[in-house]
Amino acid sequence: MKKQWWQEEVIYQIYPKSFNDSNGDGIGDIQGIIEKLDYLKDLGVTMLWICPIYKSPMDDNGYDISDYYAIEAQFGNMEDLEELIEKAKEKNIKIILDLVINHTSDEHEWFQKALADKSSKYHDYYIFKEGVKEPNNWRSVFGGSVWEKVSERNEYYLHCFGKKQPDLNWENKELRKRLYDMVNWWLEKGIAGFRIDAITFIKKDLSWESQAPDGVDGLVKCTKVSRNQPGIGIFLNELKENTFNKYQCMTVAEAPGVPYEELDEFIGDNGYFSMIFDFRYADLDIASGSEWFKRIDWNIKELNEKVMASQLAIQKYGWGANFIENHDQPRAATKYLRNHAADDRAVKTLAAMYFFLRGVPFIYQGQELGMMNFKRDSIDEFDDLSSIDQYYRSIQEGYSAEEALNFVNLRSRDNSRTPFPWNGEKYGGFSEVVPWIKMTEEYPEINVEKQTGKKNSILEFYRDMIWFRQKGPYREIFIYGKIEPMESDENVIAYKRYTEKECVYCWFNFSDCNIEVSVPEETMNLIWQTYGKAELKKDKLKLLPFQSAFLVSK
Ligand code: GLC
Ligand code: CA
Repeated sequence: MKKQWWQEEVIYQIYPKSFNDSNGDGIGDIQGIIEKLDYLKDLGVTMLWICPIYKSPMDDNGYDISDYYAIEAQFGNMEDLEELIEKAKEKNIKIILDLVINHTSDEHEWFQKALADKSSKYHDYYIFKEGVKEPNNWRSVFGGSVWEKVSERNEYYLHCFGKKQPDLNWENKELRKRLYDMVNWWLEKGIAGFRIDAITFIKKDLSWESQAPDGVDGLVKCTKVSRNQPGIGIFLNELKENTFNKYQCMTVAEAPGVPYEELDEFIGDNGYFSMIFDFRYADLDIASGSEWFKRIDWNIKELNEKVMASQLAIQKYGWGANFIENHDQPRAATKYLRNHAADDRAVKTLAAMYFFLRGVPFIYQGQELGMMNFKRDSIDEFDDLSSIDQYYRSIQEGYSAEEALNFVNLRSRDNSRTPFPWNGEKYGGFSEVVPWIKMTEEYPEINVEKQTGKKNSILEFYRDMIWFRQKGPYREIFIYGKIEPMESDENVIAYKRYTEKECVYCWFNFSDCNIEVSVPEETMNLIWQTYGKAELKKDKLKLLPFQSAFLVSK
């Protein structure tokens, strides 16, 4: 693969509403991010992905945009954003924004005009169908029919996500052109690129036919008919050619469900994007792309297989975007480590395992502190609209209220949206007033102040690990080297990273026992471990519980 500037990045994802509140209203904001740029610089990250900060009624926390060219007042204004871009740049930190172009808010001017006048051109910017009942049985990602009735008219509009997020009609050429203009307008502002939201939803099955139901509600998840549909490539290519290609920008697309055979089109040399997120191992605890009550059991061997399958498939054509958390996922410690979530050693091994994979590592705010899921006692305590939907869907499918709450606690997107804990004071130094969403129980212990400068803390570990990839002696290998899985114990994930000249062998022990593994060559040097001292004797490496160790040939 041809070298690209963005291969060297370490990206930190910020959920602005929950990062840092600068003006005491309980809501994080852009000035709050500016205040913390030194923290991010010291951590060693090189790029920030800022979740949506555009004008929005905030029904889905900003993924419902009512004006692409304005900043949501809760977060600040355009000058604040420009200041952020500028000040970050001074520290060599790049900024990418979230690009949400599958849908807008129902409060967007285009949609308002479409509602007001059926014969306006804006009506065709969205997907309306005439009739007295829903045109088909598709279920939206956030629950209920994808169709919402227009009041006082026998007409429905389509929304693959929330009711207040009508899908744009990408079949309309003028609409597409207006989106491209907007994308270019932002790129002109000097941002480094975009994370692109729900982009595989832009093409629908135009037959609009009902499908066999997959739930007792008689509906079927719309992903079957509105995600990765034939013909989507034409739109994605056109988007790229009219926007990203004109700039040296980086793009990372949220594109769940792209078959590995199609990766070339998405991330190959002439692909639509620089990278895409692969969700196959992120969703290993629920039946693929499914609802939260369809839980599945899994073990380390399966995690290993999924991670490696993903790495090898991506390596064939392009570059990976590696993550274990984001604003839609529960906390990684809880999800992947289950009853060992609070064990720092396990948290570090999990971190190292994904961080040194081939690709750009993404760190989600709070992950670097080892934050864990919360346990909430009532559905009333949730904000996230998909959590509320999944609670009632579970009950509808025959689960008890208690079981339903358990599913939601395990998977709720609110888990990662709790206020960022800066210190152990009231409201964790996030705000001076009650935050918009409850803090986690552990914040007096798990916070930046407690972990800064503390030997062996998870935060200091992340700092070292980032340095090791970016500036350490094996930088070339960690960034540009190839990856190959190694056979090992069933509770150990093992891979090597290598260039033509050198190889780093990596073992990650995911069990709470000592494990001895065979190493491929007799003479090796131990170069790094996540804690303690691994023991190397001839061709045997003894790993401590939850320890990772890296070796190189002598
Ligand atoms: C993406 C976002 C998610 C949002 C949805 C609808 O999946 O990551 O947060 O709710 O798209 O925009
Ligand atoms: Ca604020």
